[in-house]
Amino acid sequence: MRKRYKIAVIAGDGIGPEVIAEGIRVLQKTAELDGRFEFEFAYFPWGCEYYVKHGKMMDDDGLEQLQAFDAIYLGAVGYPGVPDHLSLWGLLLKIRKGFDQYVNLRPIKLLQGAPCPLKDVTQEQVDMLVIRENSEGEYAGAGDWLFKGKPEEVVLQTGVFSRKGTERIIRYAYEVARQTGKTLTSISKGNALQYSMVFWDQLFDEIGAEYPDVQTYSYLVDAASMFFVKQPERFEVVVTSNLFGDILTDLGAAIAGGLGLAAGANINPERTYPSMFEPIHGSAPDIAGKGIANPLAAIWSASQLLDFLGHEEWGRQVLRSVEQVLVDGHSLTPDMGGHASTQQVGSAVLERLGSADALG
Ligand code: NAI
Ligand code: MG
Repeated sequence: MRKRYKIAVIAGDGIGPEVIAEGIRVLQKTAELDGRFEFEFAYFPWGCEYYVKHGKMMDDDGLEQLQAFDAIYLGAVGYPGVPDHLSLWGLLLKIRKGFDQYVNLRPIKLLQGAPCPLKDVTQEQVDMLVIRENSEGEYAGAGDWLFKGKPEEVVLQTGVFSRKGTERIIRYAYEVARQTGKTLTSISKGNALQYSMVFWDQLFDEIGAEYPDVQTYSYLVDAASMFFVKQPERFEVVVTSNLFGDILTDLGAAIAGGLGLAAGANINPERTYPSMFEPIHGSAPDIAGKGIANPLAAIWSASQLLDFLGHEEWGRQVLRSVEQVLVDGHSLTPDMGGHASTQQVGSAVLERLGSADALG
């Protein structure tokens, strides 16, 4: 009997469906080549178009519908005409929070052949895993908007850092660093944010006492941004807050080949709820429908999904195949300087998958 994985697909808006289609082809192919498992995909029509028709981004019982799946594969949400904060809070954040996907894993790894805007940087120098707090912090959604439109108008956006929330993300990062034998860097801002980030730093040290084997560093976020560009080799495993992680990983994406390559996983480590895998780019309305979106980020997130399901060997092979497509350079989308379509890039990855090279 083949093991059957049930995957909920929320392709979303703009280029979401275009890139997700290629990721799905890749997943199908790994299952076919392996023979021991298979995928069953269920498609959910949620997103901005759905919002325009139904006044909501997803069904009211959407989370209940998703609960039974092994994982969620998401394209992108957001489209002109629907305010971004509505689309984000109505779907993506609802799922991340509702399913307690408190770990956001964003690999920042310069693949062979990937374009890097930094001068004289080797592949070995850009190879980190950013672990971003994904459930609270600056994106907790706490605050108020007082005296709207009046001269005395005041808005409050409150950061929420609970002991439980802060401890669990830091502990997760220490575990990853220990298991992989890498250094762990915490990025915070204890000088200016004298409550939240002093607390963060304190917990980083406290929990660190349990991991004497892990070599640690601690940077302020401003200095860290500079080092991301100047000396990316300083970073191996990185742990940081929700907002800082959001910003730093776009910077990281830029140094590791661009948004077209950057993937992110939203993980509920306890596996009480399904985890969600997505390219980190948005719906790119400027190129939607043209068939030129780069599917490699979506394919990379499919590789993260394979890792998560315990098929790390396939996860690695998918990445190896992506790398070969990059090195070869003939099948790249315009954002990477090529002329290929989304589908052609997908096909190029499929061709390499399972070939002798990809196994190497
Ligand atoms: P974006 O990531 O959609 O696009 C930024 C730029 O990068 C655009 O020029 C776009 O053409 C290009 N780009 C992005 N992905 C690409 C790909 N795979 N291949 C080739 N080029 C690509 O960010 P933007 O423009 O700020 O947001 C557009 C919409 O997407 C907004 O509604 C926003 O809220 C939403 N969004 C959704 C995200 C999600 O669902 N996770 C994340 C970021 C934005
Ligand atoms: Mg972002």
